[in-house]
Amino acid sequence: MNNLNTLSSNEDIKGKIIFLRVDFNIPIKDGKVIDDTKIVKMKDIINKLLSKKAKIILCSHLGRPQKNGKEGLSLDQVKNKLENIFKKDIVFLNNYLNNETKNSIRQSDKELFLLENIRFHKEEEQNDLEFSQQLANLADIYINEAFSCSHRAHASVTGITKFIKSYAGETIFNELNSLEKIFNKSNKPITCIIGGSKISTKIDLISNLIKKVDFMIIGGAMANNFIKYNNFQIGKSLFEPNKEETIKKIISIAKEYNCKLIIPKDVVVSTSENTSGKNKNLSEIEANDIIFDIGINTIKSISEIINLSKTLLWNGPLGFFEKDLFANGSNEVAKLIKINTQKKLLTSIAGGGDTAAAIKKAKAEDGFSYISTAGGAFLEWLEGKILPGLKVLEK
Ligand code: 3PG
Repeated sequence: MNNLNTLSSNEDIKGKIIFLRVDFNIPIKDGKVIDDTKIVKMKDIINKLLSKKAKIILCSHLGRPQKNGKEGLSLDQVKNKLENIFKKDIVFLNNYLNNETKNSIRQSDKELFLLENIRFHKEEEQNDLEFSQQLANLADIYINEAFSCSHRAHASVTGITKFIKSYAGETIFNELNSLEKIFNKSNKPITCIIGGSKISTKIDLISNLIKKVDFMIIGGAMANNFIKYNNFQIGKSLFEPNKEETIKKIISIAKEYNCKLIIPKDVVVSTSENTSGKNKNLSEIEANDIIFDIGINTIKSISEIINLSKTLLWNGPLGFFEKDLFANGSNEVAKLIKINTQKKLLTSIAGGGDTAAAIKKAKAEDGFSYISTAGGAFLEWLEGKILPGLKVLEK
């Protein structure tokens, strides 16, 4: 059980202004929200606070504007979606760092306010104290409902809590309780499926989990590094250079801890992401081929392992699932996990935005024991790291 400060359900918040740190870092294309899962997840919580007559300032980041520029990253694009979901006018606040804002929010007949992308201010990521205080000055209470951002020591996640009464919200509480429940009672055999493109972002996770699980399945573009390490050609496929030592280390820890490491034995390749692929054994991959998915024999082997497993953790898609042509690996795996979980043969937990999207695409989201939409925070939690955004909310 976690020991975070939470807002008591009896606390009178009528007329109070709540600074709600949410995660609306969601996919947007041509100005339109293309996946609103993270917003919908907040619907009941926000409505509950509104029903108690609180006013809410929604604060989120979107993308990495300090690195990539502000273009296309205004949260203004999310306003319409929010208005449709909440059936209310939302006041979009662009210039809000002044003494008038709090008063005008208090006097407004509106209840929901949305701040412009908090990362448009460089002080956010610097966790600048003065900026944190300015944010705190906007409200009476701070609630963090963004577990997925709690691995960031940023002003709207940690700094602000120095200046205002601060609480962990319901989503954080639920997320931690579900994760702890599953991990504390995990039955063996335990299988871990790790996909995605960058081995360097997941090396700590793999090295930590490999000591605890019975099967470690590697898929997605990061498997290409293993395929190459085993002296097969990978053509024009994505891979990360200079990772031989990392792979050697993973193989050696797996041996030491008796964890079976599974990498694809066949793959689906094509010469372009828009042309349908061919199933090939690793020895058949040609110079112009690009690996886009795991092959049918690999799916068969993974299915056998899933059928043996009692607990399963999945992070990272197994192929380029966004394209229907290459979604088969992730689809088949998601569907089998769903079947076994629904038959109560398996406890399954998945995490990360892409993994959640792949599961949704396979129509398997109702078949997992728990799906976390958090990416980096989920990984850091699994690695056993302390998340700064949660640390500051401890009792
Ligand atoms: C996420 O999508 O995982 C969170 O919004 C965190 O985003 P970040 O990696 O840009 O901090």
